[in-house]
Amino acid sequence: MSTTAIYLIFIFSLFIPPHPSTADQSFISLLITQNGLDFVKDLLISKAISTLTPLWLTKIEETIKIPIIGKVHIALSDITVNRVNIGSSYIKPSVTGVSIDGSEVTCELSMKWHYSYGTWFAPISISDSGSASVQVNGAGVGLTLGLDNQEGSLKLSTIECNCHIHDISIDLDGGASWLYQGIVDASEVQIASAIEKAITKKLKTGVSKLGSFLQTLPKRIPVDDIAALNVTFVNDPFLSDDSLGFEINGLFIESNKDTPSLHNALQPPVSCSDSSKMVGIALDEAVFVSAAALYYDAMFMHWVVDKVPEQSLLNTAGWRFIVPQLYRKYPNADMNLDISLSEPPRVQILRQNIDATVYADLIVDVLEGVETIPVACISLVIAGTGSVEVIGNNLAGHLKLDDFTMSLKWSKIGTLHMFLIQPLMWTLIETVFVPYANARLGNGFPLPIIHGFTLQNAEIVSSDSRITVCSDVTYQESFDRSRNAS
Ligand SMILES: *[C@@H]1O[C@H](CO)[C@@H](O)[C@H](O)[C@H]1NC(C)=O
Repeated sequence: MSTTAIYLIFIFSLFIPPHPSTADQSFISLLITQNGLDFVKDLLISKAISTLTPLWLTKIEETIKIPIIGKVHIALSDITVNRVNIGSSYIKPSVTGVSIDGSEVTCELSMKWHYSYGTWFAPISISDSGSASVQVNGAGVGLTLGLDNQEGSLKLSTIECNCHIHDISIDLDGGASWLYQGIVDASEVQIASAIEKAITKKLKTGVSKLGSFLQTLPKRIPVDDIAALNVTFVNDPFLSDDSLGFEINGLFIESNKDTPSLHNALQPPVSCSDSSKMVGIALDEAVFVSAAALYYDAMFMHWVVDKVPEQSLLNTAGWRFIVPQLYRKYPNADMNLDISLSEPPRVQILRQNIDATVYADLIVDVLEGVETIPVACISLVIAGTGSVEVIGNNLAGHLKLDDFTMSLKWSKIGTLHMFLIQPLMWTLIETVFVPYANARLGNGFPLPIIHGFTLQNAEIVSSDSRITVCSDVTYQESFDRSRNAS
């Protein structure tokens, strides 16, 4: 078993259990549904099997008494588990922890035997050796894992780990029949208990590796050079009968330095309408609000437009009939549009769609030689409808312009007739602002999913103030991780 398990655990979301009022706040919650848990379990079991084979057991030595022959020293060495198969398995979360049980476990082992004895009548030592195969037919393996939040990381512990062998058969190649019976009688129990111990130990090692991997999961996921997503775990994982939930802080923070987090009320639980999906990731409106605030503070939302599809709009001649005084004062002068957001964009997630409102100031600059002369400032309130989609493991956005209002903030060229400027502004917003915003939103930001896992057939459910991504996942181990993991 490897680090993989943990990723899995990390992946999912969707349900927020009720919290005491002192609980830390979480804005993204992850839920692994029963289907997701089964996927994780199968992955863990295949990892476990691959680390269990081959498995070498310590040599067993024993002196047994055989009728007539006397005391015989028997050594079983090179005991190797070559194959393990788990017939059926299940995973079940409960308040105490997550239990994974395997039954109908079979193992194939090979070993070497050697015996020697001396008798009172023939004081020379007699010995022989050969090989044997061992088949374990009935065994069960059980593992109960505890999951806790330890200072924002997941702490995995082994609450219970056991392996019971009910049925073992030994098949010697060669050897006398007395030997056969003697070995079987003397060694069955020892071999079974050695296998049980070795499997238990290996599983515990696997769990502790997985545990250290979990501890090292990053607490932030970089989005770009400005922002990162705070993926610190808050509160203990939520374990119900058929799902495993995690809560993470989920807010956007600055890439480099710490910022205070926002405070919003916790939302009620949300679930995926399609219950067959493996995971759900619920993102509170606060996540989007924190992104808007952060980019706004980072002065990221400011740009100078000096190229537009209709370039005549960037010359006073193009404004000649709309703002004649501008043309008179600066005939045929080139212009720039200096756009900056005047406050963080508002994002509101509604049942059917996402409302976005952008507040911008547009300064009209005239270029005279090397000089840039601001001549007027127009305040814009742009209303749009947002939509989100999952691209790879990113949640990407798209903005559609619905409406806008404008007002003159200041002017050095007298009064502007807003109704005349309106169509021109619409064109600018449609052809410059919206494509600019969409180019940025289109990249999206990474959902908190562990490396190696990919969302598949994701669906997005938008409800009041929350977006839930319901998805299946696939897993593909990458080369560097497989090195670290084993
Ligand atoms: C990230 O979230 C954790 C848990 O809510 C919080 O304690 C921590 O201050 C946050 N980090 C930043 C940089 O805001």
